[in-house]
Amino acid sequence: MEQQSLSVGEALLQAHNALDKDLAFLKRPVTTPAEMSQRLAMARQHLRQHFRFEEEGGYMDMVLRGQPNLHRRVEQLHEEHETLDQMLTHLIAEAAAATKLDASFQRKIQCWIDELKAHESRENEFVEVAFTQDIGQKD
Ligand SMILES: [Fe+2]
Ligand SMILES: [Fe+2]
Repeated sequence: MEQQSLSVGEALLQAHNALDKDLAFLKRPVTTPAEMSQRLAMARQHLRQHFRFEEEGGYMDMVLRGQPNLHRRVEQLHEEHETLDQMLTHLIAEAAAATKLDASFQRKIQCWIDELKAHESRENEFVEVAFTQDIGQKD
C-alpha cells in the first residue's frame, strides 16, 4: 500500500510539472488576439486531459473508492476543475472577440495561472495527507 501511495503522489507531481511546462507558452508574446485565442484553446485541451487523469483512475478516484470521510474535500477540488475550465473558456471567448490585447488581458491570464497553481498546491497537500492517513489506517 505504501508503494502505491508513493506512486500516486509522485504521478500527481509529475503531471503537475508537465502541465506547468505545457502552459508556459501562455506567457510568451503574441501578435494577434486570434493567436492568443488559439493558444488558450490548446491550453484548455491540456487542462482537460489533466483533469480527466485526476478524476478517472487518478487520486480522486482512489480516494472516493477507499476513504468516504474525504469525499467532501474531493468534491471541492472537483468543483475547482469546473471553475478553472469556465474561467479559461471565458478568456478564450474574450480573446476571440478582441481587436487588440492589452496588458490587462495579460493580467487576467496571469490571474488564471495563479488560480490553477493554487489548486495544484491544494491537491498536492491533499494527496499527501490522504495517503498518509491511509497508510496509518492500514498499519
Ligand atoms: Fe486538479
Ligand atoms: Fe492537478
